[in-house]
Amino acid sequence: MTTAKRKVLVVFGTRPEAIKMALLAKALRAHPDFDAEVCVTAQHRSMLDQVLAIFDVKPRFDLDLMQQNQGLADMTGRILNGMTGVVREFRPDWVLVQGDTTTAFVAALAAFYEKVSVGHVEAGLRTGHKYSPFPEEMNRKLAGALTDLHLAPTERARQALLREAVPEERVHVTGNTVVDALLWVSKKLDDDHAARAALDARFSMLDPKRRMILVTGHRRESFGKPFEDMCNAFVDIVRARADVEILYPVHLNPNVQAPVKAILAAAPEELRSRIHLVDPVEYLPFVYLQKRATFIVTDSGGVQEEAPSLGKPCLVTRNDTERPEAVEAGTAKLIGTNRERIVTESLRLLDDEAHYRSMSRAHNPYGDGKANDRIVELLRTAKGS
Ligand code: UD1
Ligand code: UDP
Repeated sequence: MTTAKRKVLVVFGTRPEAIKMALLAKALRAHPDFDAEVCVTAQHRSMLDQVLAIFDVKPRFDLDLMQQNQGLADMTGRILNGMTGVVREFRPDWVLVQGDTTTAFVAALAAFYEKVSVGHVEAGLRTGHKYSPFPEEMNRKLAGALTDLHLAPTERARQALLREAVPEERVHVTGNTVVDALLWVSKKLDDDHAARAALDARFSMLDPKRRMILVTGHRRESFGKPFEDMCNAFVDIVRARADVEILYPVHLNPNVQAPVKAILAAAPEELRSRIHLVDPVEYLPFVYLQKRATFIVTDSGGVQEEAPSLGKPCLVTRNDTERPEAVEAGTAKLIGTNRERIVTESLRLLDDEAHYRSMSRAHNPYGDGKANDRIVELLRTAKGS
């Protein structure tokens, strides 16, 4: 007797979702028990395409929805309509979403309206603050409310879901798929001498005699003054230490680009030469840069998860985090967006060797690189509703 294959639609829209879903989508597609397809909303365009290219993922459905400086309500409406069409056409048994973006929440909603079961990858992350991060905290709670199979990255995330009265049999700890992706790319980097040499050449503006701080930032709750304060802090840091340079792949959101152009690009020439502003880089070069960095300053969720695996101290420019494991282990520190605080904490890492060492211990609190295998196995037998 042959049993029908499970039809799974793997949905994502932004760079981090793609990084965390690409290998899972490939594993499902290669598995004989599944008929799996990828749908991208393209909430991001070029930053998404960079990831599709490195993981060689070809979506069957591409809604191509990104608009410049898109608003939340507008994007929500467009994703809901687009996803409903795809779900009606493909008629999956399961829709799989990831994380806390508008794509994740709205794709889950579209599946629910069509009475299709939902699996949520990276379920159960919480800060407990409705507006921080905004709108991600509510996106993941709302996606969770629509979810039949909660794939929690850590035991802490599982506990958060149980506290919200999610039935125990619907929650499973899998590890975070970001670690699977990071190990995959790290191995590629380690094995490929030529690729590393090409990256050395591409980033030849970095002076090996200087210490490099890698910076990223994009949170909506920090738009406006907090972003200006962060940019001013970066100028202060290169002014304070002559052997330090900053490499900052600037997110394409216009609300990020504006303060970066106004403050960092306009810094006095003697400092500007040590502030390297580049476009978002592909995942492989970004992992190379993380490995090369002395430390990282970021508000990114994914980077907070990667830095501990790479043994890099991580200063988190946010007031709270849904990923507290590295903070508790002492390798990440929540420092907010205050200009003086960012400077003080950075100079401490630069000047105090013992402090630097205490924050640069390599550990993997978010996963062990086998999350995708566990998720595939769970999906083989999971009960929908
Ligand atoms: C989105 C997610 C956020 C996630 C982040 C990862 C929401 C509401 N926000 O934030 O949770 O942490 O992605 O980076 O889901 N843009 C481009 N090209 C691109 C990508 C973005 O030009 O490839 C510009 C566009 O003008 C776009 C704007 O950035 O309108 C904002 O994109 P959007 O996805 O709405 O928000 P992000 O800040 O990227
Ligand atoms: N990243 C990348 N290129 C960059 C900056 C980040 O490939 O120029 C990767 C990073 O390694 C991590 C992910 O993108 O895996 C994080 O994405 P982002 O910060 O945009 O979103 P978040 O994780 O905060 O949702």
